[in-house]
Amino acid sequence: MEKLVMRDDPSSLSAEAFRTLKINLDFFNVDNNLKTLAITSSNPGEGKSTAIANLAIAFAQSGKRVILIDCDLRRPSVHKKFKISNTHGITDMIVDTELKHDYIHSSKIDNLFILPCGTKPPNPAELLASEKMDMLLEKLKGMCDIVLLDIPPILSVADSRIICGKVDGVILLCAYGQSEKELILKSKQELDKVNAKLIGTILAKVPESQSHYSYYYDDNLNASNRKKNKRHSR
Ligand SMILES: Nc1ncnc2c1ncn2[C@@H]1O[C@H](COP(=O)(O)OP(=O)(O)O)[C@@H](O)[C@H]1O
Ligand SMILES: [Mg+2]
Repeated sequence: MEKLVMRDDPSSLSAEAFRTLKINLDFFNVDNNLKTLAITSSNPGEGKSTAIANLAIAFAQSGKRVILIDCDLRRPSVHKKFKISNTHGITDMIVDTELKHDYIHSSKIDNLFILPCGTKPPNPAELLASEKMDMLLEKLKGMCDIVLLDIPPILSVADSRIICGKVDGVILLCAYGQSEKELILKSKQELDKVNAKLIGTILAKVPESQSHYSYYYDDNLNASNRKKNKRHSR
């Protein structure tokens, strides 16, 4: 089973970062209209699937009922992270137009349910763009507090853009030392073209040394704020 920090290393700095991301999303979602959320990025391998799976666990651990759907129909990976069967999944549900409850798996984490990709289709973009997909999403939304969608990179095929245009919120992920500035800007343009609601960005794969730096930097900031406050209170 592939490692997920929220499940396998919950006291790590990375896990703390996912809990903070979830809290920031709660603040963003005061009106409770963020029911479907996806994370995309410019290229494959930048950490989207890992991030959305960790975020799903963060939501579930806070008591929200979560369904995580694998909408990367060309390179599905969510089933590997949770060690579940990928025999049937969202593609089969779209084709059958029926909500098959036994295609939705328990993740062994309370409140978190997984809908894998299922049968690999010859026409992923067509399936994702279909009205049947919209109807299915509506039904899934009714079954939980939030639906998270794992999607492909935005610059390669149309699949990601199709989903980004449908969901309530999109996070654009950039990978430290990997994502190129020009491609990040291009990704933002692609999101704008489909009127995606970009609600934020996250920086993944920050080396430990760098995250320690920011951790201590925050402490120093607090220390200097404390000094300032002391001066003001005199
Ligand atoms: N935050 C991270 N830190 C270090 N490695 C990571 C991180 N996120 C993902 N990876 C690694 O990068 C590779 C690609 O991750 P994945 O989540 O599958 O990317 P994507 O979904 O964008 O293609 C995997 O080997 C994964 O273990
Ligand atoms: Mg992926």
